[in-house]
Amino acid sequence: MALKEVLIDELRDMYSAENQLVKALPKLAKGANDRQLKQLFQDHLEETKGQVLRLKEVFDRLGEKPTGQHCNGMEGIVEEGADALEKDEEGASFDSGLIGAALRTEHYEIAGYEACIAMAEILEEREIATLLGENLKQEIAAAEKISAAGVSILKQSAGEPEKEKKPKTGKEKYSAKKSSEDEKKAAPSLKRRAS
Ligand SMILES: [Fe+2]
Repeated sequence: MALKEVLIDELRDMYSAENQLVKALPKLAKGANDRQLKQLFQDHLEETKGQVLRLKEVFDRLGEKPTGQHCNGMEGIVEEGADALEKDEEGASFDSGLIGAALRTEHYEIAGYEACIAMAEILEEREIATLLGENLKQEIAAAEKISAAGVSILKQSAGEPEKEKKPKTGKEKYSAKKSSEDEKKAAPSLKRRAS
């Protein structure tokens, strides 16, 4: 059945994504200045470990192995989180960057689980859909808690003094160059839209 193959691929992607987060979340927890934010990252780390186990259960039910696909999407998002951790900001402004990075990981996972659940439902794999639904619920709750805790952090950050601009690092220069290239490549299509 073709859709089942697609589902297994997507689930392997999720399995890789969750495993990458098991490694990344402690770094966010360590980096966060705000105690509540730190705690949220730690709590979600524990949940994420449970999510890995739940995915293993899904694979057991399918009679498939969970490895076989690396999630490039999560690798990119985790890399952006690492950039946020390297930022030369302090206090709430530093934490604001971590909130942006953490919300990206959660919403990426929410999209992934929603797609997998839709497929499992079409395939009438109800138990699998239920297990995935538990992971999805945790991701949605985690995103909501981070957003709620974020309100006061973002407000604090807005009141912090702006830093003097420092010269760009090599990595930042590379990123700026790529961003100009993105703009140039899109420009012909945007012109067509305007005319
Ligand atoms: Fe997760």
